[in-house]
Amino acid sequence: MSTHADSKPWTVPALAEAKRDGRKLVMLTAYDNSFARVFDACGVDLVLVGDSLGMVVQGHDSTLPVTVDAIVYHTRVVARGLQRALLVSDLPFQSDATAERALDASVRLLQAGAEMVKLEGAGHKLDVIGFLVERDIPVCAHLGLTPQSVLKFGGYRVQGREAAAAEQLRRDAQAVAEAGAQLLVLECVPSELAAQITAEVAIPTIGIGAGPGCDGQVLVLHDMLGLDTGHRKPKFVKDFLAEGGSVAGAVRAYAEAVRSGVFPDTEHSY
Ligand code: KIV
Repeated sequence: MSTHADSKPWTVPALAEAKRDGRKLVMLTAYDNSFARVFDACGVDLVLVGDSLGMVVQGHDSTLPVTVDAIVYHTRVVARGLQRALLVSDLPFQSDATAERALDASVRLLQAGAEMVKLEGAGHKLDVIGFLVERDIPVCAHLGLTPQSVLKFGGYRVQGREAAAAEQLRRDAQAVAEAGAQLLVLECVPSELAAQITAEVAIPTIGIGAGPGCDGQVLVLHDMLGLDTGHRKPKFVKDFLAEGGSVAGAVRAYAEAVRSGVFPDTEHSY
């Protein structure tokens, strides 16, 4: 299985090369230094300091209470554990409400060690993406189930099932890529739609509950290890600790399953 050269640190331009070469991208969330070091040693390509930390680390019911200070703190400790993987950090709830706020928060995240920031949605966020990219801040977009919109959605549900919603998602995916995003997370989207979007956009897509047709996959660390976080486990979650036998074994099993296209299978897709 072809992977990024072991010793070579990932860069933002290398993500586009991976898509061009058909190499699957392996991504996991991390929130502390020890896990970051294990992920890096086991060949994980991208590490995300996600605002999921609000739910799996801080014990909240949603990601809304997560602050920029919290993401900066976790970014700093994770960054110290990485030599090879590319570090992406989330812009938490409303820290990207205006371009200026997003710039302030992104500068803090990049100064803490992030190499790319992730933000949810399209619409007015397209201007925010363009504003950041013009200022040399690499951006990962996030579409589909965007957890910061949980109140609007009324829960955590699969997005893009109806024809009109699917069309809107395809348009949004094109728009975030045209605005300058260099990576796109698709969360809880029917597999067929995610595969179609992946074929249509020039930038790599990373799926979570979006089927095997994406250019890469991401899971939340706790879900990949089968830990009970007190939240309902979505269908796409798989416990790799059961087959890996150790944390490092689980990470390697996950990475291998993503790279070989074995994960996600239909049981873990919509
Ligand atoms: O916050 C997070 O961990 C995320 C992933 C679920 C993609 O956004």
